[in-house]
Amino acid sequence: MAADKVFHSRSQGIPSEGVKDQYADGKAARVWKKYIGDSNQRTKNYRDFLSGILKKHGCVRVLDAACGTGIDSMMLLDEGFQVVSVDASDKMLKHALKARWEKRKDPRYDEWVIEEASWETLPKDVESFLPKARFDAVICLGNSFAHLLDEFEDQRTQRMCLENFAKVLKPGGLLIIDHRNYDAMIDSGATPGHSIYYNCSYPVDIKTSVLVVRGKPELVALDYCIMPSDDADSTDRSEFRLCYYPHKLERFTKMLDEAFNNRCKHSIYADFQPLDRVSNPAYYIHVMEKL
Ligand SMILES: C[S@@+](CC[C@H](N)C(=O)[O-])C[C@H]1O[C@@H](n2cnc3c(N)ncnc32)[C@H](O)[C@@H]1O
Repeated sequence: MAADKVFHSRSQGIPSEGVKDQYADGKAARVWKKYIGDSNQRTKNYRDFLSGILKKHGCVRVLDAACGTGIDSMMLLDEGFQVVSVDASDKMLKHALKARWEKRKDPRYDEWVIEEASWETLPKDVESFLPKARFDAVICLGNSFAHLLDEFEDQRTQRMCLENFAKVLKPGGLLIIDHRNYDAMIDSGATPGHSIYYNCSYPVDIKTSVLVVRGKPELVALDYCIMPSDDADSTDRSEFRLCYYPHKLERFTKMLDEAFNNRCKHSIYADFQPLDRVSNPAYYIHVMEKL
């Protein structure tokens, strides 16, 4: 793939002021549900893991900091948690708002708070709609955090955002955050076929490009192509591109500990299982307890 294609971090034709909202053209938002696949099937993979950890720690109020179309938030609402959902993309939030409206007769959904907010300004944004709110848990799942690229080449914005997650947690609160296994993706130049999150029932091709700047992997571009079926007309294809910062496990682990001033209990899981049980996971999940 030509380098100039890698550098187009979103669909062409969209006015670009960086890649802050990679969903702004609506392309990925429109097909996100299709990509996720059956929502019960998707959340079945980690419903017990997530709600088990949250319940074990007595968490009640949870902030979904990258709610997207609302898939994880709805799972947590169904499990009885109070959920506040935020996302920076109005194109994604639109789907969560619609889901809330459709289920508004269920009191749990009626009380579901959905607001636009960005990790860069999270404490201030939360303060504007829920003054003095602190959460028992913050989740940032589905490889969301890697959407934040490294424009200054020193990861300062990523560090600030992780600190913001820690700030909105109560003492004893949990941050549950994940990322793809970028170590393996950088080594192989490919995205693992198996995924704990996505159960699309159509064939999905993910073209992987790794951009190395001054010897350091700085960006992974994934070009998703979802075909309606093997023999369908090629115009029925859904295509979108998302770019990610390739967080390596060791570095990201350190950055997380630092965001909590090293006053935390940090556990790492591989595809929602103990780390030593999965040899080449698709995802790493970090559970941070703020001490
Ligand atoms: C891969 S989607 C995942 C959504 C959902 N958690 C899921 O798994 O389906 C990533 C989400 O992160 C959001 N996001 C990216 N950067 C953000 C930021 N700086 N602040 C808040 N949300 C952000 C995007 O708008 C997008 O909805």
